[in-house]
Amino acid sequence: IPTVGDAYDGPLPPKIQIGDKQIQTWYNSPFPEEYIRCECLYVCEFCLQYMKTVGVLERHYQKCPWHRPPGTEIYHDTVGLSETEQEELVMYETDGNDWKEYCQNLCLLAKLYLDHKTLYYDVEPFLFYVLTRRDKFGDHLIGYFSKEKQCLQRYNVSCIMVLPPYQGDGYGRFLIDFSYLLSRRESVYGSPEKPLSELGQLSYEAYWKSAMLDFFLAKRQTGATKTSFKDICDATGISTQDAADVIQSMNFIGKTETGEWEFTLLEDILASHEMKKKDKSKKRVALSEGKLHADT
Ligand code: ACO
Ligand code: ZN
Repeated sequence: IPTVGDAYDGPLPPKIQIGDKQIQTWYNSPFPEEYIRCECLYVCEFCLQYMKTVGVLERHYQKCPWHRPPGTEIYHDTVGLSETEQEELVMYETDGNDWKEYCQNLCLLAKLYLDHKTLYYDVEPFLFYVLTRRDKFGDHLIGYFSKEKQCLQRYNVSCIMVLPPYQGDGYGRFLIDFSYLLSRRESVYGSPEKPLSELGQLSYEAYWKSAMLDFFLAKRQTGATKTSFKDICDATGISTQDAADVIQSMNFIGKTETGEWEFTLLEDILASHEMKKKDKSKKRVALSEGKLHADT
């Protein structure tokens, strides 16, 4: 088993192989001691069991019966990547109580890309929303977010992670969008658990900003010039505090009157928002609300 030498001072384990991807790690993750000094940790992309050698992984694949995450399929959509290429996205809802080992392994994997402390073993109080890409071999992990089943602070995301090879392609935005869709279904306003990582902050800010602009654009189309936080938060599922922070940073609200905002939309902000949406070089993964199973 190739192991890293004492001189190595990077994250442990240094690298993982999952599916057909070898990925450098960013931070330490508390895999059991005998696994972390392996040069590469081999992870079954379906059941997330980890192994020390590619040989063991290959033997594992011959007998592993899994071809998808455990839990309930709650969303399935075919999205166009280009005119000829399509991708089948499938989301699972996996209960930490029912699938403890899988969820623990998912958390260990996520920790490799998160610098702050996250949960690893105490997974029972959480639901895991696992995003996969389907092909004829199975449903391949792209990323996930976890959510506390009963959360007093109304956090709608505890931890969110997209595997590095898939980052920057709109999947994080899709997962964030999904988390707010779940909140709207529950008729609550949600917010991600703090602290946010730097990448988490960038992604959420970008999401909040565009959700607000979409809201104001739709509102303007109805001829309205006034709105309230209740309107904004009902439509988006975004918490009042987060909405207020973003709106303030955008600096495009007119004046406040008795709980109602009179808004003026700055044409240059809207124009750049529209342009961004049309920018073909940016991958956006559309969420079709109607495709979330009704009883979720
Ligand atoms: N620099 C600048 N902007 C960025 C960056 C970056 N490195 N990464 C994402 N963004 C912006 C994008 O521009 C995009 O905005 P846009 O659509 O308006 O252009 C938005 O954030 C989302 O981009 P996606 O491609 O959808 O995001 P991605 O798939 O890369 O996932 C995520 C984002 C989940 C945060 C990912 O970077 C990740 O897994 N990071 C490691 C783990 C982590 O830090 N998780 C968040 C912890 S906080 C928490 O869990 C509550
Ligand atoms: Zn397996």
